[in-house]
Amino acid sequence: MTTPQHPDDFLHMMRMRSASEGGIFWVDDERLAVFEPEAARRVSATNWHAFTMHDRLIDVVRRRSSTPVRWSQVRAAWLTQLHTLATAEQHGRLIERMERIIDAHLDEDVDLAMLAQDVAVRSLLPLALAGLTPDESDLVRRDLEGKLLRLVSPEPGSTFQHLRFTVVQVRSGLVVRRVLRQRADGRRRRELDLTDPFVDLLPDLGMDRALDVVTAVLTAIAGPPGTAAASLLYEFARRPEWQERLTRELTAVDPAAFRAAPPSEAPVTHRFVKEVLRLWSPPLLLVRRSKYAFDLGRTRLEPGQWYLLSPHMIHRDERVWKQPDVFDPDRFLPGASHGPADRTCYVPFGWAPKKCIGANIATVQLMALCHQLCTRYRLSVDRPQDVTMALRFAPVPENFHGRLTLR
Ligand code: HEM
Repeated sequence: MTTPQHPDDFLHMMRMRSASEGGIFWVDDERLAVFEPEAARRVSATNWHAFTMHDRLIDVVRRRSSTPVRWSQVRAAWLTQLHTLATAEQHGRLIERMERIIDAHLDEDVDLAMLAQDVAVRSLLPLALAGLTPDESDLVRRDLEGKLLRLVSPEPGSTFQHLRFTVVQVRSGLVVRRVLRQRADGRRRRELDLTDPFVDLLPDLGMDRALDVVTAVLTAIAGPPGTAAASLLYEFARRPEWQERLTRELTAVDPAAFRAAPPSEAPVTHRFVKEVLRLWSPPLLLVRRSKYAFDLGRTRLEPGQWYLLSPHMIHRDERVWKQPDVFDPDRFLPGASHGPADRTCYVPFGWAPKKCIGANIATVQLMALCHQLCTRYRLSVDRPQDVTMALRFAPVPENFHGRLTLR
């Protein structure tokens, strides 16, 4: 069987098959869909439990070997840094960056999906890599834009575009290498960002693997946060009753307390964000290679075979959720009969031990966007009846034009 051309059709076909075949089925000769929540949890937990960064091609070419570094060490370094960054002051800086980017486009007729992506991605960049010169920052931003465009664009780019993206990517990689080197030898200031922990780990990691680690974060912030922000804008625009509920809550919160801990200060808004992420989880599919053999009941996954995971498929599965296609944030109220049956059912940030490290800051960012939409800006959408959601690498609102003005 071949993959149909249009991603929407492909997703639709996968959903139909998942419903009739119990969540685990061979998509084609090579790829097993693992859309059953407990199986997805189990396969992820086992497959990645001992994931280690080994030598790179350059090591093999130079006939040298590098100390193996466990992925859990890398994640621990990221999570420690993110814990330090989880303060009202740091959240306040993120929110200010978001506002600056929106303010620069006030009253302009824009593609709202693109604006949301721009706001999310550019405001997150200093968290991943801070202290760049304007030229360096411009280059890395163009690299992030290229990464996102390649993911969400409806058309495959031309060869020339690919070449241009590759050049930008290589130059952006050189910036990261320079930053790491200069921080290590004291020519550049150390920063509170997700790159800095790897300056101390450079002797073990080596420059190539350190670049891979930083690139993993840059790639992660280039994709899901922007499309999630666009989906949030899409649902916000379509739901006047939720606009009212959010506005009531967010105009009453103490801004300082909100910056420190948005989910506990604004539970209605938190539910709204969770529901947006349930219905429109990016990325729609994760493709993984199995390292072990798995007995999955009616079939087996052998080492070396590919499997697909999908928060989206789990979130839209009628065996897992009641009325999965209905937008209702109140399903996240404690004890709601249409809520998640257990922790395996709601997985917008993936599965341990590869689960998204940015889940908390992403939630802060999306809640801050709600706050801004309810207290600072007014959103107007042109021809709302024409706006649709396209399922590409992630859900992306289409024909989503309009503007933000100051209240
Ligand atoms: C709404 C926004 C976001 C969504 C929906 C999202 C979702 C995801 C998902 C589904 C994965 C794959 C998990 C798996 O393989 O099981 C992932 C991985 C990852 N995410 Fe996010 N993410 C978001 C924001 C962020 C942010 C803001 C950061 C950085 C601060 C980040 C950093 C990462 C990293 C580094 C990984 C790879 C983790 C690993 O390989 O161990 N993400 N994310």
